[in-house]
Amino acid sequence: MVKYPGAEQWVPRTGGMKRVRAVIGECRGCDLWEDAERAVPGEGPVRARMMLVGETPGDNEDKEGHVFVGPAGRLLDKALVEAGIDRSKVYLTNAVKHFRFERQGKRRIHKTPSASQITACRPWLRRELEIVKPALVVVMGSVAARALLGSSFRVGQDRGKPVELPDGRPAVATVHPSAVVRSDEFRRDFGRFVDDLKVAVELLG
Ligand code: URA
Ligand code: SF4
Repeated sequence: MVKYPGAEQWVPRTGGMKRVRAVIGECRGCDLWEDAERAVPGEGPVRARMMLVGETPGDNEDKEGHVFVGPAGRLLDKALVEAGIDRSKVYLTNAVKHFRFERQGKRRIHKTPSASQITACRPWLRRELEIVKPALVVVMGSVAARALLGSSFRVGQDRGKPVELPDGRPAVATVHPSAVVRSDEFRRDFGRFVDDLKVAVELLG
């Protein structure tokens, strides 16, 4: 495993989300800043009761500087509506803040961040959790699960039920919306994704 310095020394301890947004681009906690256009921090009200955590910015997010604005984001938007969740009221972020990709000609093909990169970037996610203090976290996909629930957590087995983060914070795991985008059984998998989000709504009360 590659050993990265990790983001800790770049994460501001004061100044809230404004300061996070101002300085996250300076992070050199792993190597992903080198090829990406920008770091993409989370978005949403800092008093949100629900935080949803994805994987990494994709091609669109890297270009535009906003979370979930590409195909996965459009799917997530639809699913949130079906589950009765207002996107403007939740805090949306990613486990890893820089886009990882491989070039194929002119295209940039998403690559899953490595375990070391996930670990390196975790201090940013922890800081977002500290600032927002959500009552519930929705963990979307195996990268977010690794960051928040550890490497032995299996999304396929334990999705859609109440779980706890190591700090005791209530959470629900589900698949990543891009897995639904790619699914051969779209209707079924979209329905399951929405069902998991509904569990989250119920838990929030
Ligand atoms: N996938 C993610 O996990 N996050 C985004 O912001 C976009 C796609
Ligand atoms: Fe820092 Fe995370 Fe970007 Fe790596 S991916 S450089 S740890 S912000």
